[in-house]
Amino acid sequence: MSDRIASHYSDNLHLADLIAKDLQAAGKDLNRLTTADLAMVDEFHIRGRKATLELAERMKLKADSHVLDIGSGLGGPARTLAEKYGCRVSGIDLTQAFCTAATAMSAWVGLGERVDFRQGDATSLPFADKQFDAAMTIHVAMNIAAKDKMYTEARRVLKPGGIFAVYDVLQGKGGDVLYPVPWARDPSISHLATPDEMKSLLSGAGFELLHIQDSTEESQRFFEQLTAQMAKTGASAVAWRFFLGDDFPVMARNQVRNVTERRIRTVSYFCVA
Ligand SMILES: C[S@@+](CC[C@H](N)C(=O)[O-])C[C@H]1O[C@@H](n2cnc3c(N)ncnc32)[C@H](O)[C@@H]1O
Repeated sequence: MSDRIASHYSDNLHLADLIAKDLQAAGKDLNRLTTADLAMVDEFHIRGRKATLELAERMKLKADSHVLDIGSGLGGPARTLAEKYGCRVSGIDLTQAFCTAATAMSAWVGLGERVDFRQGDATSLPFADKQFDAAMTIHVAMNIAAKDKMYTEARRVLKPGGIFAVYDVLQGKGGDVLYPVPWARDPSISHLATPDEMKSLLSGAGFELLHIQDSTEESQRFFEQLTAQMAKTGASAVAWRFFLGDDFPVMARNQVRNVTERRIRTVSYFCVA
């Protein structure tokens, strides 16, 4: 199952080279890249960098914080936090190709000293107890059936009082998800929790729930704008095609329906360990 999830995302260990070529073709100087230049590709979740910054605002981050990013993807959220707060961020992700690209891309923008990425599984974290000051996970649990293990592990590695911020896609009341979607081409690797299940999963892992934020309406607008942009400029406007492939436009159109018909919701949870 882990292999199938990783290969859904990418098997290409040269992903960073493809992204670099694309940036160059778009007129970017590779020696002067900024995190903003990467944001269209490396913030791989609904509502992009804005959503990452929104999460970070409630994480009580300081320059000496050490943050864990569970399911760190191409490393965009980790770099955004490291740049804005001066903190250190360690990312873990099932997909080796993403960890390799995340490491290369961090060096491009001079953040290689403050972020690190390693391959691993969210349900069995390779870290000691009470190691991190805060943790986040963005659009990852949709691929994980054993969410109880994932959240228990997050709590184990957090220091008491540390904030855990979760931003995920949940099952709505509007019916079954239409596939393909960016996290799965069919239901076999998709495991969405409902909002009620999320509350009991997080409290079952020992977290105290501080705040819940539903961003479904804004997510609907995000996909409407993305599909309108693709209709105007073609799918090549979306750099996620490098790993999601040629069916990305279909995924985006399905997401408009999934979110408009409330088959899915996007919700953030802020908890304390
Ligand atoms: C949609 S991407 C989100 C990446 C990143 N959080 C972001 O927002 O840019 C989902 C990520 O979850 C990772 N993932 C899925 N299942 C995982 C697991 N069991 N452990 C760690 N990472 C996992 C995938 O490899 C992929 O990188």
